[in-house]
Amino acid sequence: MDKKINIGIIGCGHWGPNYVRNFSLMPQARVLWISDLNPERLAHIKKLYPAVKITKDYRKIIRDSSVNAVVVATPTVTHYNIAKDCLHNAKHLLVEKPLSVNFRDASELVALAQNKKRTLMVGHTFEYNPAVNKMKELIKSGKLGKVYYLYSTRTNLGPLRSDVNALWDLAPHDISIFSYILESLPLRVSAHGAGFLQKGIEDIVFVTLYYPRNIIVGIHVSWLNPHKVRQITAVGSKRMLVFDDINSTSPICLYNKGVIRKPCLLPYYNSFREFKLIIQEGKVAIPKIKMEEPLQIECRHFLDCLIRGKEPQSNGRVGLEVVRVLEAIQRSLKDNGRMKEVC
Ligand SMILES: NC(=O)c1ccc[n+]([C@@H]2O[C@H](COP(=O)([O-])OP(=O)(O)OC[C@H]3O[C@@H](n4cnc5c(N)ncnc54)[C@H](O)[C@@H]3O)[C@@H](O)[C@H]2O)c1
Repeated sequence: MDKKINIGIIGCGHWGPNYVRNFSLMPQARVLWISDLNPERLAHIKKLYPAVKITKDYRKIIRDSSVNAVVVATPTVTHYNIAKDCLHNAKHLLVEKPLSVNFRDASELVALAQNKKRTLMVGHTFEYNPAVNKMKELIKSGKLGKVYYLYSTRTNLGPLRSDVNALWDLAPHDISIFSYILESLPLRVSAHGAGFLQKGIEDIVFVTLYYPRNIIVGIHVSWLNPHKVRQITAVGSKRMLVFDDINSTSPICLYNKGVIRKPCLLPYYNSFREFKLIIQEGKVAIPKIKMEEPLQIECRHFLDCLIRGKEPQSNGRVGLEVVRVLEAIQRSLKDNGRMKEVC
């Protein structure tokens, strides 16, 4: 690979331009091509980045032998076909989340990347978020004590999609965050949801995931909600924390609160073995976090993996596991919330 890594970006709607911006700022990369079906999107990007070549046909990018790596930021239903074409043309790949719309296609992509000896990374942006990494560090170091439960709320009014439901659109973030933080996958899941706006496409979904060590996790995703909320709460036996992704200056609050058990020696209790549950109120700490745009860290990591031949943090297998969990949730959703094994 020569000094600069030549990159093609397929899909320049809402999210793709963020890749163009980030890779354009990196000295090790050159954004050579962008592709979109919509000529207005192409004209818009061309205005901002005149040196970039544009095309409506992404095959032009993957047939260009000077392109080393491709980013796929098209709608989820298209990921599999485009990613497969890229791998067959020996391109390294960064595919947006979720890797595909089913486990079978996602496993095929992982196997293909392995056969072709190409890097396959999935855009699980939150695994590169400094606040998520701080949350993981606090939980792993035992600051929260025994972790009881976690839950996330990811709601807003729009943006609406029609290729996938709110589960497949939004929950890949939460599943990747929880599995990354807890370093395990859920064993069982159950989910309820409803589609009000488009037939057969759920706008709101409530999920419960059962992780090892009796940790229960909740996820609420919705694109039909008056408030934009991006919040995760983690509750442990010693402390509790809240991560608010919308608060860019102090995203994590660590609450020194909890409920402790004290032996109760009062005479009206039957024996000294009785316990009282006592609520403990303490200070709130705001851990210092050096914030940086998570997508910038993700892009840098991708380049670093290509240069050093390293496996990405959110590699194809990690992406595949997220799809496995999504499939189990989808089965439960279609079966009125009945518990499903993640298998
Ligand atoms: N990691 C994150 O935080 C994050 C955030 C937003 C979106 N995403 C993901 O990024 C992907 C794109 O989302 P979006 O919000 O940008 O969608 P979008 O609909 O705004 O943009 C998708 C673009 O892809 C183009 N496109 C479709 N098929 C194409 C093809 N065959 N060739 C070239 N271009 C094609 C469309 O014309 C459109 O402009 C989705 O998978 C989504 O889940 C990730």
